Amino acid sequence: MQIRESFPFYSHNSSKSNPIYLDNAATTQKAAVVIDCINELWRNGSANVHRSSHSLANNLTRRYEDARLVCSHFINAKNKREIIWTSGATEAINLVANSWGMDNLTAGDEILISKMEHHANLIPWQQLCKIKGVSLKIIPITETAEIDLLALNSLLNSKVKLVAITHISNVLGTVNPIKEIIELCHKVGAIVLVDGAQAVAHIPVDVQQLDCDFYVFSGHKCFAPESTGVLYGKLNLLEAMSPWKTGGEMVKTVSFTSSNFQPAPLKFEAGTPNISGIIALSKALTFINSLDRKSLFEHEQYLTQLAKQKLLEINNIKLHSTAKQSSSIISFSINNINAMDLSALLDEQNIAIRSGQLCAMPLVRKLNNAGVLRVSFCFYNSTDEVIQFIETLKQSIAIAGG
Ligand code: ALA
Repeated sequence: MQIRESFPFYSHNSSKSNPIYLDNAATTQKAAVVIDCINELWRNGSANVHRSSHSLANNLTRRYEDARLVCSHFINAKNKREIIWTSGATEAINLVANSWGMDNLTAGDEILISKMEHHANLIPWQQLCKIKGVSLKIIPITETAEIDLLALNSLLNSKVKLVAITHISNVLGTVNPIKEIIELCHKVGAIVLVDGAQAVAHIPVDVQQLDCDFYVFSGHKCFAPESTGVLYGKLNLLEAMSPWKTGGEMVKTVSFTSSNFQPAPLKFEAGTPNISGIIALSKALTFINSLDRKSLFEHEQYLTQLAKQKLLEINNIKLHSTAKQSSSIISFSINNINAMDLSALLDEQNIAIRSGQLCAMPLVRKLNNAGVLRVSFCFYNSTDEVIQFIETLKQSIAIAGG
């Protein structure tokens, strides 16, 4: 596959001993442009951004800000000031909870999240609700692993101030009808945060078209370095928000009694950021945009349908990923066989998948108390890998006594 040439994982000398990597929802392999960028940056000299004024620093500040522009184009934000660099989707959600949430919520208000949220889009709201006396309500899902839109409608009222919902479920693979959900929520005046961690590598995202208020994602799930990520926020919201983390470079003036802050985005970027990681993230976004996204998505869909069809031929299997609009994530359980045992057996045969609670314990406990198995494809995976996974899974089930 030609696309694999863009990923050194598939082309370096020892690639024959690489696992068949089917855990892309946990993290993706890194693109060559990302690795080359980090290498180039670190070899050519480090300097800090937005501080020192020598040439090396000025050059890196320019590249750091150019990266922001690239990111704003990638998700079609109106203004590059709407892009805040974070260490990932988790930190971005924590920022909104601790800034917007602390500023705007009062006792008696309500926050809605869905039953299919990752812990990162659950616990920050739980903590905030405890502090503020706000109620956290859960939007149920249907038997077909989709958001229950009727139930959402009945939960919406003027007390709901924020709805935080995933674009694509990391457990079920469900692609939520985010635009429709946002429209419903806006009707009652709620603002909407979308967790796009599982989306950006797989489908184009246009924040203006969605009209979301906040959108978050992580770099490492789209071929870029770990500990990089993005909070997109509408500028009027960001301008009104207090900083969460404070320290160097997010201030205009400081005295021993008070400080005043830079405008967004810098007021949210205290301390030295992950400069090389962020510039490399922008390379990953440019790389994604250079691809034929439609045909890569179709390839992922083909692999997913093939895997689902073959999985359903296995006795005693239950597929949890049953939504009509679904990405390349499949969770499943096999009756009476422990998910961890099966993934360990697959690992012995050099096939990497994930098992357990998938950082979504309240949902996964309902699907299978002991945890589920999850396979997640990316466009660089091949049909042969799917076939080999299915064959090895069948052998592993036999060994495990199924
Ligand atoms: N959120 C990542 C996953 O679902 C880590 O595996």
